Amino acid sequence: MVAAVRVHKPGGPEVLTFEDVDVPAPGPGQIRIKQHASGLNYIDTYIRSGAYPQPLPFIAGNEGAGEVVAVGSGVTDFKAGDRIGYVVTLGGYSAERVLPAERAVKLPDAISYEQAAGMMLKGMTVEYLVQRTFKVQKGHNVLVHAAAGGIGLLIGQWLNHIGANAIGTVGSKEKADLAKANGYHHTILYRDEDFVARVKDITKGELCEVVYDGVGKSTFPASLDCIKPLGMFVSFGSSSGPIDAFNIGLLQNKGSLFATRPTLNTYNAKRDPLVKSAADLFKMVTSGALKIPVNQKYALKDAQKAHRDLEARKTTGSSILVP
Ligand SMILES: NC(=O)c1ccc[n+]([C@@H]2O[C@H](COP(=O)([O-])OP(=O)(O)OC[C@H]3O[C@@H](n4cnc5c(N)ncnc54)[C@H](OP(=O)(O)O)[C@@H]3O)[C@@H](O)[C@H]2O)c1
Repeated sequence: MVAAVRVHKPGGPEVLTFEDVDVPAPGPGQIRIKQHASGLNYIDTYIRSGAYPQPLPFIAGNEGAGEVVAVGSGVTDFKAGDRIGYVVTLGGYSAERVLPAERAVKLPDAISYEQAAGMMLKGMTVEYLVQRTFKVQKGHNVLVHAAAGGIGLLIGQWLNHIGANAIGTVGSKEKADLAKANGYHHTILYRDEDFVARVKDITKGELCEVVYDGVGKSTFPASLDCIKPLGMFVSFGSSSGPIDAFNIGLLQNKGSLFATRPTLNTYNAKRDPLVKSAADLFKMVTSGALKIPVNQKYALKDAQKAHRDLEARKTTGSSILVP
C-alpha cells in the first residue's frame, strides 16, 4: 500500500482524501515509478470539482516525476532506475504509481525531480502555445493574463527569450514585481485598472499580435479589444469560470480575428510531438533561459490546502506535492 490522494465524489477541496491505495504491477506498455514530486495544476481543480468528469474513484493529479522501479512487457525505452517526468495521465498525487510508458520522458541529470514536477505540464503547454498555436516572433506585442501564475511565469520568460514585448496582467502589486522578474516588460493590475486602455497605451495603439488568456470568464470579451486586426485570441483556460457562448460575428467586428481553444492533450497526443516538446523545454531549462519557480511545496497529505490556496489566488509560479 502507498499514500495517495483520492476523489470518491466530485466537489470542493474537502473531497481530496489522503489514504493508502494498492498499486498494481505494471501491465504491458506500462512502467511503475516511485514518485519524488507531483505537480499541482489548475486542471486538477476542474477534475476534482466534476467540471471535467472522470470515472470514480480516481487518484487526482496529472503530472509528476520519479524513478522507474519496474517495467511491464514490451517496454524497451525505460528500465528500473531511470529518472523520468510525465504529464497528463490521472493518478499524479501518489507516492508510487503505474503509467503508460509512452507518456514518460527521461529527465536530463541537470533537472531535479522537483523542477520536473513543477514544469512538465506547464512548460510543455508554454512550448506549444508560443511555438505552435501562434508562432511568436521577436518584436510581437503579447498579452498574457495571470502573468504571475504557474503558466504565467514560464510564458513570460519564454516570450522574453524570443524577444517579444511581454505584457502581463496580475492580481496584486507583489505579483507584478514577480512577473517583471520573470520576463514581462509591462504589468497591469487588472483588478484595479482597465487592461484594454493600458494595452492600448503600452503598445501606442498598435495592440497585440496574440493574447494568451487562461482566465476566461472575467477577461472576456475585453481580451478581444487588445488584439490587432487578423490577430489571434488563444483561450487556453478558465480559472475565473468558462467563457459564455458568443456570436462568431464578434470576431469579424473586432478585426477579422482568429480564435482557438487549444489543449496540451491534443498538441502532444502522439509520442513524437511529446518527445520533441519535452526536448525543447529541457533545452530551455538546461541552457538557463527558463527558470522553474517552484514557489510552493506541500506534503501530499496537505493536498486540500494546496487546492484552496490555488483557487484563492494565493500561489505564484509552480506548486508541487511531495510524498
Ligand atoms: N489548455 C491547456 O493546454 C492548459 C494547460 C495547462 C494549464 N491551462 C490553464 O492555464 C491556466 C493557468 O493554470 P495554472 O495551473 O498555471 O494556474 P495559475 O495561473 O497558477 O493560477 C490561476 C491564476 O488565475 C488568476 N485568476 C483570475 N481570476 C481568478 C479566479 N476567479 N479564481 C482563481 N484564480 C483566478 C489568479 O492570478 P491573479 O491573482 O494574478 O489574477 C490565479 O493565481 C488555467 O486556466 C489552466 O486551466 C491550460
